[in-house]
Amino acid sequence: MFDIKKITVLGAGAMGNGIAQVSAQAGYQVIMQDITEEALQRGMATIRKSLDKMASKGKIAPEKVEETLSRINTAVDLEEAAKDADLVIEAVPEILDLKIEIYKRLDVVCKPEAIFGSNTSTLPITVLGAATKRPQQVCGIHFMNPVPVMPGVELIKGRLTSDEVMEVAVNYVKSIGREACLAVDYAGFIVSRLLDVVQNEACKLVMEGNAPEEIDKAMKLCANWPIGPCALMDLVGLDIVEHGLGTLENDLGPEYKAAPLLRQMVRAGELGRKTGRGFYEYNK
Ligand code: CAA
Repeated sequence: MFDIKKITVLGAGAMGNGIAQVSAQAGYQVIMQDITEEALQRGMATIRKSLDKMASKGKIAPEKVEETLSRINTAVDLEEAAKDADLVIEAVPEILDLKIEIYKRLDVVCKPEAIFGSNTSTLPITVLGAATKRPQQVCGIHFMNPVPVMPGVELIKGRLTSDEVMEVAVNYVKSIGREACLAVDYAGFIVSRLLDVVQNEACKLVMEGNAPEEIDKAMKLCANWPIGPCALMDLVGLDIVEHGLGTLENDLGPEYKAAPLLRQMVRAGELGRKTGRGFYEYNK
């Protein structure tokens, strides 16, 4: 069985820094790559904050904070970051052309046996695999937000992904203390396909006059959700939800069209927590 020791995470945003964190916590040597030093510094600061929070609540030993951080190196240069990796986890923005370009570059620079896992929440893995000469080594490793606390990871087998690579991915997910949920490779897989639809319906409910607070209260108290769909959109990012629906609409049909309110809020920059305002207001 292929032995993963070195992991490169592409992207230092909310998902990328979380993936780097949980991988380093499990003992992997990690390189987190992004295109600017500022993005990397922000990512490292978020990881430190999360580890400090866990230590202050007794969830990890205090010495684990520095130990974990010492296993994460950062890099701006993609080729330099990825050349020695056993596993590259890609968590760059959900722009298909950008991802395809990155997979082409990775294919050239990485070791022949290296595995590529995409954290995409909706884009089919088969398309990403097709950008490489190793589609059998490309799979989906889809983490949930917030990565440090969510126990499930969706694993997606592209049409050409090998069973052996899926086994390596399952073992990686187990090794970081998470549980793998296996999904078939159609746009949105399981989690985004279901959540995006519910979130889109929540937008329509707001348009029809329902208060976000009441929608969220109803789903918490009547369906036992930990947070309601409006608060969840604010957490994930309204732009991410709109983008996910766009991919579902393109691949699966017009019933996934984003609600006018969702589009309007994205155009207004009301993206949720990350911009300080979505369905609710946040102190940035
Ligand atoms: N790092 C470390 N600890 C964290 C953390 C972080 N980033 N974020 C939260 N926590 C901890 C808190 O400190 C808290 O710890 P205690 O229980 O010890 O107090 C615990 O997690 C719970 O947090 P809160 O009390 O702040 O709030 P909460 O009870 O609402 O729980 C939540 C937060 C776990 C996020 C919960 O609201 C939840 O499960 N929400 C749903 C999340 C979800 O559905 N995620 C999937 C989104 S879809 C997605 O991500 C896919 C995609 O691609 C779009």
